[in-house]
Amino acid sequence: MIVSQTISACRQQRRKLGKLALVPTMGALHEGHLSLIAIAKKHAEHVAVSIFVNPTQFGPREDFSKYPRPIEADLAKCQAAGVDLVFNPSPEEMYPTLPKSMGFRTQDKSGGVPPESPPPEIVVDLPTMAGVLEGRFRPTHFRGVCQVVAKLFNIVQPDVACFGQKDFQQLRIITAMVEALNWPIEIIACPTLRDPDGLAKSSRNQFLSPDERQRALAISRGLLHAEKEFSQGVKQTNRLVTLVQNMILEGTIQGKVPLLIDYVAAVDALTLKSVDHIAVPTVIAVAARVGTTRLIDNVLLDPTKKAHG
Ligand code: PAJ
Repeated sequence: MIVSQTISACRQQRRKLGKLALVPTMGALHEGHLSLIAIAKKHAEHVAVSIFVNPTQFGPREDFSKYPRPIEADLAKCQAAGVDLVFNPSPEEMYPTLPKSMGFRTQDKSGGVPPESPPPEIVVDLPTMAGVLEGRFRPTHFRGVCQVVAKLFNIVQPDVACFGQKDFQQLRIITAMVEALNWPIEIIACPTLRDPDGLAKSSRNQFLSPDERQRALAISRGLLHAEKEFSQGVKQTNRLVTLVQNMILEGTIQGKVPLLIDYVAAVDALTLKSVDHIAVPTVIAVAARVGTTRLIDNVLLDPTKKAHG
């Protein structure tokens, strides 16, 4: 396995490889990431993984500085998974013109929050899809995601790239970006990997205390219940959304600390526009905060695939 930290070294290594699948990550690798690597291997002879905590996709009050960076463990996992090439650049390598403060963006000593970083000079914007759901709570997030993924695609030049359905909106936006800009890259959608109790695997789960983790289960419980109701014929999204909300807030009734819901929404899986009655593939998406940890999850309800009744 080759590890490249510079763009030129990565390009040089890439040239030696034939058909290549890329799995872009921010590291702190878990089984969800490893399932993407396994899928990538089925689609190409060689697999590259990028590990880069991208500063431009974090808002000023978000967890950029505390995001976990266990690089040695990550490299060992990539090696064991049979990855050929790891691209692990520094923020300076990726963004030579970025203000230095941004690479270390954190609360200052007085407890204040530094001003938001200037927008990238070149942006790929998909306002309709990037302005809803996550975009309402993280207004600059997808601009940063598109920026870094565009750069990674141009540096690594993969034939195939794998993204998880766990970040459904991200997957849709990147697929749309690749189509709109005619990149010759096949985007593979990979299913969400869950713990046996239903919690979607996430690098942020390690921030949860045992009690918080227990309470976080209400999110997947609600979504999986909605999936069941849908398979039994419920097509009205207001019923499904209410059901998910109620299951997430159940903790309040039981006298526990409630989860704070940012949104529970039903959207068209292709356009991300709101859906009332499920006649096309529809995603029920949730974002909720458990203590200081913000979690997202979703289920895809596909009326063309499921047998109902
Ligand atoms: P990260 O959160 O590290 O996720 C990397 C990839 O793993 C994404 O495609 C994500 O959807 C997928 N993934 C995460 N948890 C998963 C799970 N439980 N099951 C299946 N796949 C899962 O997403 C990012 O990084 C960044 O935004 C990135 C695309 C790398 C750009 O910086």
